[in-house]
Amino acid sequence: MKFLVTGGAGFIGKWLLEKLPIDAEVVVIDSLDEQAHCTSRDFSPELKARATCIRADVQFVEDYKEVIEGTDVVIHLASQTGTGQSMYEISRYVQQNANGTAKLLELISRLEHKPRRVILSSSRAVYGDGAYTDGQQVYYSRGRRIEDLQQGIWEVLDDQGQPLKSLPMHEDHLTKPTSVYGLTKLWQEQLMQNYCTSQNINLVTLRFQNVYGPKQELGNPYTGIIGIFTNAIAQDNPLELFEDGLVTRDFVFVGDVAEAVVKCALHEAPLSSIINIGTGQATTLIDVVETIAEIVGKPAQYSISGRFRVGDVRHAIADMSRYEMLLGSWSPTSLKDGLSQYLQWYLGQKPLSQESLQASFEEMERTGLLLSKRG
Ligand SMILES: NC(=O)c1ccc[n+]([C@@H]2O[C@H](COP(=O)([O-])OP(=O)(O)OC[C@H]3O[C@@H](n4cnc5c(N)ncnc54)[C@H](O)[C@@H]3O)[C@@H](O)[C@H]2O)c1
Repeated sequence: MKFLVTGGAGFIGKWLLEKLPIDAEVVVIDSLDEQAHCTSRDFSPELKARATCIRADVQFVEDYKEVIEGTDVVIHLASQTGTGQSMYEISRYVQQNANGTAKLLELISRLEHKPRRVILSSSRAVYGDGAYTDGQQVYYSRGRRIEDLQQGIWEVLDDQGQPLKSLPMHEDHLTKPTSVYGLTKLWQEQLMQNYCTSQNINLVTLRFQNVYGPKQELGNPYTGIIGIFTNAIAQDNPLELFEDGLVTRDFVFVGDVAEAVVKCALHEAPLSSIINIGTGQATTLIDVVETIAEIVGKPAQYSISGRFRVGDVRHAIADMSRYEMLLGSWSPTSLKDGLSQYLQWYLGQKPLSQESLQASFEEMERTGLLLSKRG
């Protein structure tokens, strides 16, 4: 089999390449984006030994038709991934994520033999705040109001001002992204859907929750909250939790994500679907910090600042029933086991200063996207 993996030099890509069948031919297209590759801007020797590596932005791939001719499965991972950053570097996100996907599709459209399947790495960001219930009906949040957040009202409210209960994100729920990043991921989905349907190509759209694990770029302050927390705890630096620390996320281990992608890629029967990839478990930020501190063997010290990022969602958790229905049982790594593997890897890395993280916060403050609860 022949695979094309865009963004294959990134965090998830590195894990994926290790799990693809050993006898498969692999082509990687990756721009080695500065932010995603702060420590080294070269393809690693392991990657070069495993795949034909092309350093290119997916927006400018028209010359590579011959190299990717004969591809059976395209796995499109290349994206700009900073949710907060996307709110002010808007055109960069639109160009690289949406136009990049459009250009990739144009390249595919010129191939003599079309791929059998395309796998798109989408995101839970397409759901935005997601669906909520008062116990009777399902509601879709219009996005939390800045005035409410400034008063420390963190939960999503109904029209009478009563807090609603968040529901696990289901693939059939409405998509209402609250960030530019989320919007560009939705555009990627829709571009792919239109093109693949017209060409009878199987499209599997995987909506990842928060992916974490070894090999995540530590120097990138715009993504990877677990790396940010671990850095602070390991180096005894101040650790700030936004809102009231009770924001929840579904943290899914990168090895499980890579296995799910491979399972979809190798699935023999036709498979065209949108599928969530998470654990189905909600974890608060406080719980994450306490688990990391327990593994590191230090007391969990953090401040709850009441600051908040405009566009952040309050709760996110995947409904994994469609995955299980289509692909079989799903037994994700527990947070504690995944974090233990992460910590083991982290301790072998060069410690990083907090400067780039502080700079990213200042940037968000300047652009009015990092605000504080009043009073
Ligand atoms: N990590 C997560 O928590 C998470 C969650 C949801 C969705 N995703 C999606 O999964 C995919 C992979 O994410 P990741 O965590 O490995 O990120 P990453 O930044 O580590 O990897 C992305 C790779 O794509 C490359 N890239 C970026 N823009 C490119 C462009 N225009 N042309 C060519 N290459 C480009 C980067 O150099 C990088 O190697 C992305 O599509 C992301 O949106 C990730």
